[in-house]
Amino acid sequence: MSSSIERFDEKARGAFSRHGRTVVHRGELLRHPVYTRVLHWSVAISFILSLLSGFAIYSPWLYRWLTPLFGGGPMTRFLHPWFALLFTVLFVFQFMNWLAPMRWTSSDRRWMRRIRAYVSNTEKREAEDVGFFNGGQKLYFWAIVFSAVLFLITGLLLWFDDVVPRWLVAVSYVLHDIAALVMLAGFIIHIYEGTAAQPGTFRSMTDGTVTEEWASTHHPVWYAEVAGRASRQDDEDAREREPERTEPRV
Ligand code: HEM
Repeated sequence: MSSSIERFDEKARGAFSRHGRTVVHRGELLRHPVYTRVLHWSVAISFILSLLSGFAIYSPWLYRWLTPLFGGGPMTRFLHPWFALLFTVLFVFQFMNWLAPMRWTSSDRRWMRRIRAYVSNTEKREAEDVGFFNGGQKLYFWAIVFSAVLFLITGLLLWFDDVVPRWLVAVSYVLHDIAALVMLAGFIIHIYEGTAAQPGTFRSMTDGTVTEEWASTHHPVWYAEVAGRASRQDDEDAREREPERTEPRV
């Protein structure tokens, strides 16, 4: 099946990969093509600019030191909605890019039931049914989608507060701040998971590649699809046979 979004994405992916390269060495897999990486970091930069300028407006008392970065207080207030609009537009592209792998499945429901083991890091390997993204990553993605919609609606109401009823402006402030808290909490967890918690993940968004071992450990279904091996068991069998092969023959 081919929708207009998929066709659009295919074209964009092709155009970007002609301008940037991803080198995949032996024992590695391509995880994120150039298009995805450019989008991800553009979204991240616009998000951080919105967040920092938003902090400075939210509590000038605490975050006054941030305003010189944007050219002073009034300039920060002027720029914040434009950074936020840029973030929203870029995120729409990322949304279309990742909509298919972010669909919620029964495997994600099972992942959510194991969340305690995941958070406490007791299981080094993900369960056999985890695909390209796990349930936690999808949850983060959908939290951004809902927060971005809430941000956009309430942000527009706050931007044009001179024509919006006062009670609606007051409600918008509260909802805008709730969305910001959700995004901030998700962002902190996301940085931790994408760097320190799972070594080997960060390079997927810089070089675009991961090791086969990383893929079979964290995303076994995806690994089986791209590496063409039936399951992780194949790897374990191979590893068990390894000492036999390396022993010198007499
Ligand atoms: C600035 C620090 C950031 C770092 C170090 C970072 C790192 C990463 C990495 C390594 C991945 C790939 C994970 C994988 O392939 O399994 C990823 C994916 C993703 N990033 Fe970021 N990212 C950052 C900022 C952001 C921001 C600001 C957003 C959006 C507001 C964002 C949204 C996403 C989403 C939705 C995914 C896919 C789902 C997931 O892996 O959680 N990232 N990021």
